[in-house]
Amino acid sequence: MILVTGGAGYIGSHCNKELFRAGYETVVVDNLIFGHRDFLKWGEFEKVDLRELSGIKDIFDRYPIETVMHFAAFTNVNESVKNPQMYYLNNLRNTLNLLQVMLEFQVKKFVFSSTCATYGNPLEIPLTEDHPQNPINPYGKGKFIVEQILKDYSSAYDLRYVSLRYFNAAGADPEGELGERHHPETHLIPLILDAALGRRKDVKIFGTDYDTPDGTCIRDYIHVTDLADAHLKALKYLETGGKSQVFNLGNGNGFSVKEVISTAKKVTGKTIKVIETDRRQGDPPILVGSCQKAGKILGWKPIYDDLSQIIDTAWQWHKKDNENNE
Ligand code: UFG
Repeated sequence: MILVTGGAGYIGSHCNKELFRAGYETVVVDNLIFGHRDFLKWGEFEKVDLRELSGIKDIFDRYPIETVMHFAAFTNVNESVKNPQMYYLNNLRNTLNLLQVMLEFQVKKFVFSSTCATYGNPLEIPLTEDHPQNPINPYGKGKFIVEQILKDYSSAYDLRYVSLRYFNAAGADPEGELGERHHPETHLIPLILDAALGRRKDVKIFGTDYDTPDGTCIRDYIHVTDLADAHLKALKYLETGGKSQVFNLGNGNGFSVKEVISTAKKVTGKTIKVIETDRRQGDPPILVGSCQKAGKILGWKPIYDDLSQIIDTAWQWHKKDNENNE
């Protein structure tokens, strides 16, 4: 059985669905602070907060956990700068709690949600896994520290792990059962789609003076179902004896904020009011990953390699979710 922490969140829920489709039994653990009850459609669910060691132990007592996939985390970079303690307690201490119980119960396979935010400002594009890691905000630093801890635990306790460094997760379940819903929303694509639906009056572009062709930041958008597929492949890799590894997960293509907005205009057929404003603190100008390693070792290849297609899946979900919440 697979323990999926944060399985009621955006990426965790898509992964839980893929695990179910592949025939795995799962137990989702989520405190539902940011997770959604209506995303809990597959496997078992336990409302547990990873702050509480006793709550985690109870799960390991009651379910035959073989592998842990750890999605539960706060993910708002800006908030992490303003309130680092909140991020270190939730993303770092709670991960230590989880690892502590895993070791106590001799559970030694771990798939970790890491991030391209662990690289900081890139020295070279595309980023490969051996690019130096100099995270520039507490969110990225917390994920980076967990990666370091995993290395130590791996050599000392035979824990085998895969750390997956996501680039910009985007899109929604193509079957329309899950999607991206954050409160408050800070991510570019859902904000654009909110503006297309008239739920917001405009979209702000944070900075038009970057050293990029159109002056706006460039990101590598990767479909959430492709991320889920990579998790399945990482799981199989660990199950067949693979050694601890770190992989980038992205499409390897970069799109500027302006390109994302113009693609969204085409996909939705709506007019979207755009306002150019100052840079957002802590945004590197370009983040694009090389994902050859995941291709070579895991046999992973993104299916959604077209930005319009990615935005279209998000749009289909967004429209439906909007109707349901009206
Ligand atoms: N952006 C805007 N206007 C907005 C929102 C975003 O111009 O209203 C720009 C940002 O400046 C950035 C790009 O759109 O250049 C994408 O921003 P997102 O907030 O959607 O995502 P980030 O690139 O900030 O993602 C980062 C890291 C991820 C990390 C994530 C956590 O790249 O690794 O934050 O939420 F997981």
